[in-house]
Amino acid sequence: MSFSEIPPPPEHDPGNDLPELRVRPPGPQSRTWLTRHGRASAPMGPRPAASIARIKADVPDGSIVLSTGLGSNLIDVDGNRYVDLAQGFGAQLIGHRHGSIQRVLELQAGRLWQALGDVYPSDAKIGLLERLTALYPGRAQALLGQSGADAVSAALKTAALHTGRPGVIAFRGSYHGLSYGPLAACGLRESYRSPFAAQLNPAVSFVPFPTDADQAARALQLCAEHLVDGTVGAILVEPIEGRGGVLIPPDTFLTELKGLAVAHGALLIADEIWTGLGRSGSWLRMNELGAVPHLVCLGKGLGGGLPISACFGAAEVMQAWSQPEEVVHTSTFAGTPLACATALALLDVLKRQDLPARSHALGARWLPELRAAVGTSPLVAEVRGQGLMIGIELSPRLAGGAVTLQRALLERGYITSTGGGARDVLILTPALNVHEPLLAAFTSALAGTLRLLG
Ligand SMILES: Cc1ncc(COP(=O)(O)O)c(C=O)c1O
Repeated sequence: MSFSEIPPPPEHDPGNDLPELRVRPPGPQSRTWLTRHGRASAPMGPRPAASIARIKADVPDGSIVLSTGLGSNLIDVDGNRYVDLAQGFGAQLIGHRHGSIQRVLELQAGRLWQALGDVYPSDAKIGLLERLTALYPGRAQALLGQSGADAVSAALKTAALHTGRPGVIAFRGSYHGLSYGPLAACGLRESYRSPFAAQLNPAVSFVPFPTDADQAARALQLCAEHLVDGTVGAILVEPIEGRGGVLIPPDTFLTELKGLAVAHGALLIADEIWTGLGRSGSWLRMNELGAVPHLVCLGKGLGGGLPISACFGAAEVMQAWSQPEEVVHTSTFAGTPLACATALALLDVLKRQDLPARSHALGARWLPELRAAVGTSPLVAEVRGQGLMIGIELSPRLAGGAVTLQRALLERGYITSTGGGARDVLILTPALNVHEPLLAAFTSALAGTLRLLG
């Protein structure tokens, strides 16, 4: 069966139209909005040279302002229609404004918007806790939060409570969110950590993330050296480094890492915030590889577009929260009924349409198509991926790296994201229910764009 013959998902998914640009992006409306954004929003990213800063303030470039979305389509304020292959940094697992999510959102909006934390929880929250813990083999318990960083903070705290040890092993290139707990373990860009370094957990050791067997052996050896003095309570790992540039370790690395954690009394925390819920082709990548971690973090797509995250794991580990004095990890909106309801709807759609399996099959067919189309371009170093989590690493010959390519693709009507320490990887995370003709059209647009840039 060829790539274009993969059957569509069983339910009708609107919002799978090809790009249609009315004006070259950014159009006049986007420019006006972006100027206002530049004045009202705190600046993010490296400070441009003074002369460029002046120009940028007047004529924002390379960006657009979005107004509506449906499925795999986004529309900007100038009426341009795009195909969204970023999907909110991988967070819209079933596309924008999915009908099932919207229906449940409306139903829940007519019932209850806010409960009272764990004092008087909502029925939706309890339903979600049960569904999440069922993803874990054996008896499990869960904690809900609002962001991925929140879930990772919960996991790090759980490990500290359970083991009584402050140390954490994290990996270079990893990203776990930017609040203080996860920031201490952020291996992606030193500039994210360094201004706050004095305020972060000093007991974090970084180990290089391996992408081949030799590197894996070395990484395991380094982990073992850090574990030997018994101060490390947690090993925090992404099964595939997402923002790091879709870096995939050898399969056995994660099982061996689990073995090391167990042997030294530390907990293995799997940050599946990007890889999980079908994105990388299975419900949970660690379980698929037989490396069931002590704790799992989910976020991004969990709420079907609403912010919610979770940390769950073996009940005997989560029991660490039961302390002689009151110790809690909570927040006003943790487990908010609206997001719990949409998360339940999201899990239903994933299961009903078997989207993790579709992600696996579609990714396995799209990857060779992409390699055939662009793998020999002098601007491309490697095309890699798992499921519908794909990275195209660019060679240093492309000035501006993935950002240059991202901007050129925007002008053809495709929305993508970038990653890698030097932003040298174009990242593709389409909806798991995306229609194949959109991927095929993107593949040829990508090839054409690279030919022009080269
Ligand atoms: C693997 C991983 N963990 C954690 C996070 C942080 O999630 P959030 O931005 O919701 O805090 C991200 C965000 O990109 C991520 O990719």
